[in-house]
Amino acid sequence: MSQVVLQTVSQKLPILPAKVRALLQALEEPARYTTAELASMVAACGNLEAVLVNMLNSGFFRTRRKVRSAQDAFLLIGFNATRSVILGAVLKGLFPPREIVRNFDRELFLRHCIGTALASEMLAEKAGLSSELNRYRMSTYGFTHDIGTLALDYCLPVTLSRIYAHARSAGVTILQAERHILGELNHGIIGELVCRIWQLPADITNVVAYHHAPRQAKSDRTAVTVLYVGDNISWNYYEKLLSDQGLRYPMEKSVLAELGLSQADAVQIEEALPQQVDQAMRLLTLEAVDFSMLA
Ligand SMILES: [Fe+2]
Ligand SMILES: [Fe+2]
Repeated sequence: MSQVVLQTVSQKLPILPAKVRALLQALEEPARYTTAELASMVAACGNLEAVLVNMLNSGFFRTRRKVRSAQDAFLLIGFNATRSVILGAVLKGLFPPREIVRNFDRELFLRHCIGTALASEMLAEKAGLSSELNRYRMSTYGFTHDIGTLALDYCLPVTLSRIYAHARSAGVTILQAERHILGELNHGIIGELVCRIWQLPADITNVVAYHHAPRQAKSDRTAVTVLYVGDNISWNYYEKLLSDQGLRYPMEKSVLAELGLSQADAVQIEEALPQQVDQAMRLLTLEAVDFSMLA
């Protein structure tokens, strides 16, 4: 089963356009380029610049003023933050919603991803880590961490549908259902494969691969741990959206303690989350990048 799933994902995964890959790689080492060079690379990627500008002006990122162009974005929020927003927009374009899967609701799943970003951002704030783990970075991790599930939706929709159907019929959480259907495999392993194929940045690959096992993270364990806890909180929120069975994910106290946080902090964030996600859903237009324009 595992090999067949991984092989199918490798074969069916959309191609990351060469111009987008070159841009993402350049943004890993922005000092090697001028701002104008990087801006022209963005401009060469179809409607990416327009999507970037719209996302930054949506109100979600709380920019100090309106952004007019990619060059403007680099100057206002910096290369790393712009890279984060670009990655979110690119992913949306690579995995367009398709209406063929029963049992898997993309909008509810988007709420889980935004919820993960926001819960992680609130955790980082409480832990005094917000200067490093800011909204831009946590948003990218929120949008990308479950890339394995999005890849399943795109490449093996029937398998993903079976996971959600099993969760409902057996009254278990989605992660338990995933284990039942995929066995040894999970969306972290599938996501890591996607990152490798697309040569996504190392920090994203690390988060995608280890967000359910932060102690195994190869680097940046603090960021992965924050995302693990944020994801856990957002899973509880997501399960409530899916059913009223009261399904919850256990939270290891020791992991919270590593961040200097308590269960009460996690509860407070979980209570605040639904309203925060509603607000983000209203602000974020999340227009997709149209890669057909790159042909
Ligand atoms: Fe996950
Ligand atoms: Fe998740």
